[in-house]
Amino acid sequence: MSGLPETDGLNLLIGLLQRSQLQLLRILDALGLVDHVHGQAAWPWALRMSGENLLLDLGQARRLGLTLIALAAALCILGVGLLWRRGRIGLMATAVLLLAAAPWPEANVVWVPAHPTSFHQSPTGFAADSIERGRELYAAQCVGCHGADSRGHGTLSASLPVWPPNLAGPLLWRRADGDLLWHVLEGVRDRRGARTMPGFGGVLRDEDAWSLIDFMKAQGAGESLREAGLWTQPVAPPDVAVRCNGKAPRSLGSWRGQRLRIVAADASDAAGTVPALREDPRLVTVFLLPPTASRAKSTAPLPGDCVVDSAAAWAAFSLIAATDRLAGTQLIVDRSGWLRARSQPGQGAWRDDDLLCRTDSATPIAERPEPADGLGALIARMDAEPVRFVKGGFVH
Ligand code: HEC
Repeated sequence: MSGLPETDGLNLLIGLLQRSQLQLLRILDALGLVDHVHGQAAWPWALRMSGENLLLDLGQARRLGLTLIALAAALCILGVGLLWRRGRIGLMATAVLLLAAAPWPEANVVWVPAHPTSFHQSPTGFAADSIERGRELYAAQCVGCHGADSRGHGTLSASLPVWPPNLAGPLLWRRADGDLLWHVLEGVRDRRGARTMPGFGGVLRDEDAWSLIDFMKAQGAGESLREAGLWTQPVAPPDVAVRCNGKAPRSLGSWRGQRLRIVAADASDAAGTVPALREDPRLVTVFLLPPTASRAKSTAPLPGDCVVDSAAAWAAFSLIAATDRLAGTQLIVDRSGWLRARSQPGQGAWRDDDLLCRTDSATPIAERPEPADGLGALIARMDAEPVRFVKGGFVH
């Protein structure tokens, strides 16, 4: 992996914060001590520990890390003190000194306001069907203020007290999914408590709001590709049912741990006239069938062993790849389940520029191994630069 102990340490710390808070909530829920809102256990406090702030302030993250280590050591010392009567006073004094000497981080960096849904998890699995449902809902409920491209330039925007934010920017990734859910269903208020965005809890069901969040993420990825030529925030491939060699369908997400190559077939592939892609032991190849070909599927031979035959899948992948001509596009998903690279129709060999989701561009090129082909180079780079810090500062 990459030689960046600092980012790895931060990843670990942020993961620990997230998991311990989630675990605490689960225990409280199992004991029946918390209410349920919007389908899941509600976070009972007005504050939670923040991952996102620590990402921005490495110094505070370091302090928190050291303080947690001091806290753990103090607890161990106190434990020993309980067993060893004679040394008790000395041990207790050491524990107190340790805690006093710990570099406690600033409270307002570590603690941030929480909503009851802050730790809610999306049940949709980022499924293509959910994204497409979100697309319809967005057009019906949100487009007037947020605009068709979600950049905030809707027809009503200018008349609002606060301009809607650019949802195609990093905002959606900075927030925990549960906080986004709260904002969509309960609305947004400014610091003085005045409503800046209406809540849609009366119109939308919980699963509708999750679908909207899926759609906004997919659209945000497409917009960033359009504008910056990159997926500036990591995005997963929409989950879809894949059929391999006529077996029962399995979900695309079930290949997590292996690299995937997703190939958008064109009508001629589906008719078997274009030579199939060479098998590649480094990747599992999955073909997306275009909606028109899928209608004629009963007669056309399939382009490969594993195929996806769903109009929603085609539409959702088109959204993320920012194209209305998906046929011929190839996408690569890394072992952790992130979309990382794209090659455009008719492009030929893979190039370094095809890596669209880069998390650590600082890795010196000289340090990278020198693989034989373009795809090998991309794979080496993807593996050397794993995606970090996602969603509200927390790793997925
Ligand atoms: C009446 C106009 C209006 C409509 C309709 C509207 N929004 Fe908003 N939305 C806003 C404004 C204004 C903000 C910025 C609020 C702020 O930052 O105080 C916002 C903020 C947001 C945010 C960012 C919240 C955050 O965490 O900072 C999301 C996400 C969002 N809207 C989603 C939606 C979705 C989804 C819909 C449709 C169901 C929708 N909005 C409909 C005006 C609107």
